[in-house]
Amino acid sequence: MHDDMEKVLITEEEIQEKVDELGKQLSEEYKENFPLVVGVLKGSLPFMADLIKRLDIHIEYDLMDVSSYGEQMVSSGEVKIVKDLNTSVKDRDVVIVEDIIDSGLTLSYLVKLFHHRQAKSVKIVTLLDKPEGRNVDLSPDVAGFTVPDEFVVGYGLDYIERYRNLPYIGVLKPEIYEG
Ligand code: PRP
Ligand code: MN
Ligand code: MG
Repeated sequence: MHDDMEKVLITEEEIQEKVDELGKQLSEEYKENFPLVVGVLKGSLPFMADLIKRLDIHIEYDLMDVSSYGEQMVSSGEVKIVKDLNTSVKDRDVVIVEDIIDSGLTLSYLVKLFHHRQAKSVKIVTLLDKPEGRNVDLSPDVAGFTVPDEFVVGYGLDYIERYRNLPYIGVLKPEIYEG
């Protein structure tokens, strides 16, 4: 475990088992649809990369880079498109892949945007759900794990850009972000 972690919340093995399970579930659900799987950068990258390899159906994937936190600890309240999709979502079955839903702001923005762009359907798959963080009424269609209201990092989740590369989800020692 990395020195800056208070504890490991979800091990690498537990994550990989869950991704297997979600991959099977989505492969069954979308086998007729040729879904457009949208990864939300940067946080979703490890989950996205692992998940798409478990889909044994035809899919198309694309990436979008949005940010609402920047270097702040608390959501700024506005979602910024850093890089838009290259693909049209019109008449497509869209599956949004996220690392975590906290306030719900990022995803509620994206869901609205894709409906506005006339997607046929929009579903949310998130590895982590933190219901206690919620500011807007939003729930994922598929969630891997529910996490408590703690500062979680790893497997894509960062604290000022660090820890994204860890293969597990850990809780950061308070002294790291209080200092
Ligand atoms: C984080 C995380 C989610 C979002 C969740 O992204 O990856 O995308 O915040 O929070 P919310 O539900 O309160 O909107 P961030 O904006 O930090 O960008 P990043 O993925 O590049 O780290
Ligand atoms: Mn993100
Ligand atoms: Mg972030």
